[in-house]
Amino acid sequence: MNQPVMEGVSLNVPAYVRHPRLVAWVAEMAALTGAAAVSWCDGSQDEYDRLCAELVVGGTFKKLNPELRPNSFLACSDPSDVARVEDRTFICCEQKDDAGPTNNWMAPAEMRALLQTGQADGTPALFAGCMKGRTMYVVPFSMGPLGSHISHIGIELSDSPYVAVNMRIMTRMGRAVFDVLGTDGAFVPCMHTVGAPLQPGEKSAAWPCNKTKYIVHYPETREIWSYGSGYGGNALLGKKCFALRIASNMGRAQGWLAEHMLILGVTNPAGKKYHVAAAFPSACGKTNFAMLVPPTSFEGWKVTTIGDDIAWIKPNADGKLHAINPESGYFGVAPGTNTKTNPNCMDSLKSDVIFTNVALTDDGDVWWEGIDGETPAHLIDWQGKDWTPQIARETGAKAAHPNSRFTVAATNNPALDVDWDNAEGVPIDAFMFGGRRSTTVPLVTEARDWAEGVYMAATMGSETTAAAAGAVGQVRRDPFAMLPFMGYHMGDHFAHWLALGAKLAQGGAALPKVYCVNWFRKGADGKFVWPGYGDNMRVLKWMIERVEGSGGGEESVFGVSPRYDDLNWAGLDFSRAQYQSVISIDRAAWLTELGLHGELFAQLAGRLPAQLLATKARIEQQLEAA
Ligand code: OXD
Ligand code: MN
Repeated sequence: MNQPVMEGVSLNVPAYVRHPRLVAWVAEMAALTGAAAVSWCDGSQDEYDRLCAELVVGGTFKKLNPELRPNSFLACSDPSDVARVEDRTFICCEQKDDAGPTNNWMAPAEMRALLQTGQADGTPALFAGCMKGRTMYVVPFSMGPLGSHISHIGIELSDSPYVAVNMRIMTRMGRAVFDVLGTDGAFVPCMHTVGAPLQPGEKSAAWPCNKTKYIVHYPETREIWSYGSGYGGNALLGKKCFALRIASNMGRAQGWLAEHMLILGVTNPAGKKYHVAAAFPSACGKTNFAMLVPPTSFEGWKVTTIGDDIAWIKPNADGKLHAINPESGYFGVAPGTNTKTNPNCMDSLKSDVIFTNVALTDDGDVWWEGIDGETPAHLIDWQGKDWTPQIARETGAKAAHPNSRFTVAATNNPALDVDWDNAEGVPIDAFMFGGRRSTTVPLVTEARDWAEGVYMAATMGSETTAAAAGAVGQVRRDPFAMLPFMGYHMGDHFAHWLALGAKLAQGGAALPKVYCVNWFRKGADGKFVWPGYGDNMRVLKWMIERVEGSGGGEESVFGVSPRYDDLNWAGLDFSRAQYQSVISIDRAAWLTELGLHGELFAQLAGRLPAQLLATKARIEQQLEAA
């Protein structure tokens, strides 16, 4: 490939890159950003090791004690850059109404002036010169198995080597992507900068970022532009930006679904395997559920992980919905993870991990609130300060940030499903939708039909967590657990689900069953009643029995729930009274809840499918009559 002639920076295009449009875009972006160098990532182990070593020298990474945590690193971010910034996240489609009331919107031309071209009053574009003094990494990645008909390709240009090494774990990243792209294959351009250009001779901050942040999506042209943050979903653009916000647009146009769902396999003692996809809002235990270890009393049952955060789901030739995990690693929340809540995860974290914003022990290992064992007498907290249990008692300081994370390859997971990388995906037998609700929502309810399932998903509410900047613990409606990740009008998403279900049913397909779950109901003492974690297997087993047609249950206003005797209680002391307190439907609370559903529906009016209003009216009537 001819090297385009550029002023200032050499593009260094590798010979194996044969895609003129891609090279021209890289050249244009190098010129816009003023990058000091361009480096094409090949995804090799050597490259990963070299970049990690450079991150250690630059102060972004600390190498952990190789005897305790081989090949692992700790990064601590700037205290202002610790979570996704939902209020700085924009869906820039041509028509404001297409983004819907749950998204921030700006006209594409206005946003492009701000980011790329400069404003009429002479204010320079934010991306102009934003990479001065830094290397621009060209990060080629496939979301989904390379070459699968369900997968899609992205190229992220980023001035953050931290992003490059995390992308190697989180996606199929590297040279092979260019082979799939060939000379003119389609890719989603993903532009990312930390927004911290360097003056000649200036040393970079250990965690460069900018207090101005923009996480921008252009759904019509399928582009992503991210400015100012180096953290997680703001910066690893394959994840929320591509695999959810842009992909949800692709899915709507092409007849498939991009969802905030884990995917697991569950095999019964007879050796029959089922697949379940489950949506939960951020930091509500998706990784734990995806790696669930059944209680010892469930002999012969096995749960295996296909994905822990995102599912791309397409109708297959067999008429069933098949799902892939577009990612290849886990970017999970560390606090609360231990050998009781998630033994498979703890095993996954033994080596080859990038930790971000957890605490450092005196012997060079990591620690977080809720990890196993004694609390150490001294730590360095995520902000680099001394931490002791006494300081914590006196000031409330957390050693690890509540949204601290680990990045680890799926292949580290001892419970990885044999089909996790299958290009055809796995057939989905059931969908689950779950929020974090201390009251009101029962442990588990099965929808009586597809429309009722879509209603359950559409009206999900959840108490907010630390995964996003902002207040924690307030109930907000989080339809499909997609509120922060929806790339178009939420009402259109409901319609898309209804239409897809109708189309599959017309073709004679058996649709997956749909369940609403809530692990988080609290008792009068403020404590969780349901033990959760491995004991969620009791609920999963009931669902599988329902799929098989053998599980019992009883109808309520809201769907079908198991009676006490429909669940397997072997090995757990959980009384009928306790069960009642997690499964009961409180009429007054539900009337209030339906009022809140009504508020969401009013917000989405104009694009809200009539079928959902009819479902709501039916539940209301049943509740009045109850
Ligand atoms: C995540 C999130 O990182 O949902 O997965 O915030
Ligand atoms: Mn998530």
